[in-house]
Amino acid sequence: MAEAVKHMFGRIAPKYDMLNRVLSARRDVAWRRTALGMLTGSPSDVLDLACGTFDLALEALACGKARRIHGCDFCQPMLIAGASKRSGRPVTAAVGDALRLPYADASFDAAMVAYGWRNFGDPARSLAELRRVLRPGGEVLILEFFRPERWWPRVFYATFGRFVFPAVGGLLAGDSSAYRYLNDSIRGFLSIAEAERTMAAAGFDDIRRTGFFGGVSHALVGRSRR
Ligand SMILES: C[S@@+](CC[C@H](N)C(=O)[O-])C[C@H]1O[C@@H](n2cnc3c(N)ncnc32)[C@H](O)[C@@H]1O
Repeated sequence: MAEAVKHMFGRIAPKYDMLNRVLSARRDVAWRRTALGMLTGSPSDVLDLACGTFDLALEALACGKARRIHGCDFCQPMLIAGASKRSGRPVTAAVGDALRLPYADASFDAAMVAYGWRNFGDPARSLAELRRVLRPGGEVLILEFFRPERWWPRVFYATFGRFVFPAVGGLLAGDSSAYRYLNDSIRGFLSIAEAERTMAAAGFDDIRRTGFFGGVSHALVGRSRR
């Protein structure tokens, strides 16, 4: 499963940013910015796990939520697709898996994951890894599409997600199956309430959430228990 996901992101990497802008009508940019505003203070060293093409990393630098970003993703073509964007910026890139992070314990002041958690295969284990590499009291920010439970997100994913995602993905990226996977993975993932419980069980406190577009996407922040 992980290999299939890695190959899928490898296929769509060159078109990934453009598809994000089109499918979200550019709202993804504002969602990243608002989510970053939920992090308290000004952490210095921040892990951007599943960093993809570095959109969240660059936004975090722009809004003063990090001095240095350490990007990590298991799909090298995504890192390559974003390489020119991070050039000259304090953003490093490493190939690594969310379930076996290539960092020592307590390496980061904060960590963040945008639209990656759903793909990791084991939500609890990836949180345990994030907690391991965070300094005690560090915050984790997760921006994600959770399994819809309320009427509007359910209608959105049953219609727009089911029909428009694959059609537009086929047209603009030549890969309708990747965008069918997007919708299927959302509908098979944790609900926002389950995600909060998973975070609490993994050792995070002070859990806060913000919803976007009527609950179509959410940001969650939690603080690693000391
Ligand atoms: C939807 S993209 C999000 C990229 C970026 N964070 C953003 O906001 O645009 C999901 C990313 O998660 C990465 N990913 C999926 N599973 C992973 C894993 N087990 N370990 C590391 N990265 C993973 C993919 O390679 C992909 O770049």
